[in-house]
Amino acid sequence: MSNEWFKVAELSEIRVDRTRLCRIGDQVLCLYNLDGAIYATDDLCTHGAASLADGFIENGEIVCPLHDGRFCIRTGKATGAPCTIDIKTYSVKVKDGAVLLDSTEFADVPHDRTIP
Ligand code: FES
Repeated sequence: MSNEWFKVAELSEIRVDRTRLCRIGDQVLCLYNLDGAIYATDDLCTHGAASLADGFIENGEIVCPLHDGRFCIRTGKATGAPCTIDIKTYSVKVKDGAVLLDSTEFADVPHDRTIP
């Protein structure tokens, strides 16, 4: 598959130190704005049925809203109990104010949103 990027949000829609839910087909991701840099991970906590987009950002980590488990937003590494399984991270690019993800990392990409 060719390496194409597709738009998932406007940069202005993700405020600094905030999260944003993002759906790509059946996959649900969480976008983060860490001091102006955008990151993306799976949204579902690896410990239970919690949406990380409902958590809060502290010291570069997302704190799960259900049991206060923690993950490093940059690497996806589980950093705080009770979380022990890392979350998947995704490549992110910002171009002309648009937040883009790499289509090669997704099975179900809306082709009308791809940007070479
Ligand atoms: S569901 Fe996230 S820490 Fe338990």
